Amino acid sequence: MKDVYILAVESSCDETSVSIIKNGHEDIATVINSQIDVHTKYGGVVPEVASRLHLENITMVIDECLDRANMSLEDIDAFACTYAPGLLGSLLVGVEATKALSFVYNKPFIATNHMMGHIYANMIGNEYDYPLISLIVSGGHTDLILMKSENEFEYLGQTLDDAIGEAYDKVARILDLPYPGGPNVEKYALEGTPSYKMPQILNDDSFNFSFSGIKSHINNLVHNEHQRGHEINKYDLACSFQNCVTSHLVDKTKKALLKYNLKTFLISGGVAANTFIRTSLKEMCESIGVNMYMPEKKYCTDNAAMIGAAAYVLYKNKQFAPLSTNAQSHASLEMNFKKE
Ligand code: KG4
Ligand code: ZN
Repeated sequence: MKDVYILAVESSCDETSVSIIKNGHEDIATVINSQIDVHTKYGGVVPEVASRLHLENITMVIDECLDRANMSLEDIDAFACTYAPGLLGSLLVGVEATKALSFVYNKPFIATNHMMGHIYANMIGNEYDYPLISLIVSGGHTDLILMKSENEFEYLGQTLDDAIGEAYDKVARILDLPYPGGPNVEKYALEGTPSYKMPQILNDDSFNFSFSGIKSHINNLVHNEHQRGHEINKYDLACSFQNCVTSHLVDKTKKALLKYNLKTFLISGGVAANTFIRTSLKEMCESIGVNMYMPEKKYCTDNAAMIGAAAYVLYKNKQFAPLSTNAQSHASLEMNFKKE
């Protein structure tokens, strides 16, 4: 089969990213233009500012990606973008730019779900077989998914309240650590010991998660200690939090792997860049004879390479999207595989 080069755009939140991916697994070039410096001033992503910056940067990032790949737009076989879920104004920039390229160069347009992108980030550098269980841990999602084949998704469980990345970011705020919170909480946790007692989280038979209880617990703890004039040990509190949420992920994932008797496990999403979470899940998998795969850390947080990988799966299935496709703030994974 002829090699397939997909140019993919990711603009669902605060990164303008463009990649050229060969045959779904080879990253020819990836450019990520992060807006973190701007949003740090506000302590979080400001949607209007994000979409404006995407608009200012998109053409430049596409050009830079083509330059790095030493390719031109004529060499591209299909144009792909994230169309959902995410910030509407941000998504729109990537969707409109990609549709225009597809129209002008007369090549297929592929509308990709962002969460699908996170899962298939695993295709870059890994080879694994189905069926498997996939855990997405990001700023907006904590999902346990059963995949019987490359394009079958069955949700086993999700968070009932906050996503794990959201909890990391909120705990960072409580501890006065800068945005983005996750990596900073991880840094502090590394220097601490789990000396603070944490609550039991949703210890039930479901495969659902919950992170709002621990966030409130930490908020109250810090508030009470301040009122008593006591110092908080931020390192120990970050470490206690991280141990607690990691155990929650490990327990629920282990339960699902054993119940469905599966031997392959994938993790993905921004929080999957966390070393403690990666190693804790890996140790659990080894203890029950499961092969665990994870993307390189640079493919865990938002990037267009993962969108190019996911788009290749849709390309193989000839699941092209019409140019009337719109950005959507919400969408389930199954929607990508429904035939028109
Ligand atoms: O997947 P992602 O880049 O964007 C979404 O689709 O949400 O995930 C971003 C989330 C943020 O909440 C960020 O704080 C968290 O991932 N994150 C981390 C780490 N790196 C990013 N959380 C914990 N440890 C990290 N090293
Ligand atoms: Zn993401």
